[in-house]
Amino acid sequence: MPISGHTKIVGIFGYPVRHTLSPAMHNAAFAALGLDYVYLPFEVPPDNLGQALRALPALQIAGVNLTIPHKERALEYLDEISPQAQLIGAVNTVKVEGHKLIGYNTDGEGFLQSLNQDGGIDPKGRRVCLLGAGGAARAVAMALVEAKIRELAILNRTVERAQLLAEQISGYYPEVSVCTDSLDNQEIIARSDIIINTTLVGMKPDDELPIDPKVISPLGFVCDVIYHPAKTKLLAAAEKRGAKTMNGLGMLLYQGTLAFEIWTGRKAPVEVMKKALGFGLQGLCRNSDLYFPLPLGEDKGEGTLS
Ligand SMILES: NC(=O)c1ccc[n+]([C@@H]2O[C@H](COP(=O)([O-])OP(=O)(O)OC[C@H]3O[C@@H](n4cnc5c(N)ncnc54)[C@H](OP(=O)(O)O)[C@@H]3O)[C@@H](O)[C@H]2O)c1
Repeated sequence: MPISGHTKIVGIFGYPVRHTLSPAMHNAAFAALGLDYVYLPFEVPPDNLGQALRALPALQIAGVNLTIPHKERALEYLDEISPQAQLIGAVNTVKVEGHKLIGYNTDGEGFLQSLNQDGGIDPKGRRVCLLGAGGAARAVAMALVEAKIRELAILNRTVERAQLLAEQISGYYPEVSVCTDSLDNQEIIARSDIIINTTLVGMKPDDELPIDPKVISPLGFVCDVIYHPAKTKLLAAAEKRGAKTMNGLGMLLYQGTLAFEIWTGRKAPVEVMKKALGFGLQGLCRNSDLYFPLPLGEDKGEGTLS
């Protein structure tokens, strides 16, 4: 689309932000729907976040996504925060309405949609083990408890942080069983139907695995919210164990479609955005030797995925 004085600007604030795939995904969507918008990356150092957010209305920027390390600190600069973002305690999407900044969080719902659409899995009644207790973990945990999982175990390097998250969840959802421990609780990992890595471990080539993979059940489903690399060492090890796996590209896609809808009020062109990410569904999910969406898991009453 040619840029003119009418073009609406949206974008992403991150630090670093050079790796981001969001501009390709959103700009393709705007072009497909003929919307006069452009999506730009802004590398905003943490100390400049307040200034950058406060400048949005003055620059008539329509909205931004927020990524590492801004999602939690942004809360203090916003005028309104959606109930879901308040619950999560982090914001990944900001909409500018007049002079107001409204914060949303689409990460949890994005993960859930990916689990359903790409993984073919309804988490209801499942035993879930979450690795990590940061912003992504909080978003994913809240979405999963709302989807009525049976049990949530939060394993984190800093156990106190996992405990804080567990207390928060139990406050809102007393019906869900929540426990916490360090990342080396093998018993919990072994008995989980779904294991989700939300730690930073796996992003760098020399990273080790966040857990010992030898206890991953071959009947389990292992997700990594990391999408670069597309296959982390954890996913590779889980595949070797025979488990089904899913990376974070689908979460990126669906959190993006939801943000797109918040900014534009239009239904997002999911297929266009998926293609722009450089992957078909084939890149999202792996089931042993076959790259394709997994069949909907059937609960055989043993809490495992089939
Ligand atoms: N696919 C998507 O759309 C999507 C969306 C959001 C986030 N993400 C990804 O999610 C990941 C986490 O992001 P975040 O915002 O949650 O980050 P965060 O708030 O900084 O949390 C980082 C988590 O990683 C753990 N961690 C960091 N270094 C570790 C290490 N060496 N060993 C073990 N644990 C370690 C931290 O544990 P401590 O508490 O002990 O520090 C914490 O639980 C990133 O890879 C991000 O790209 C993906």
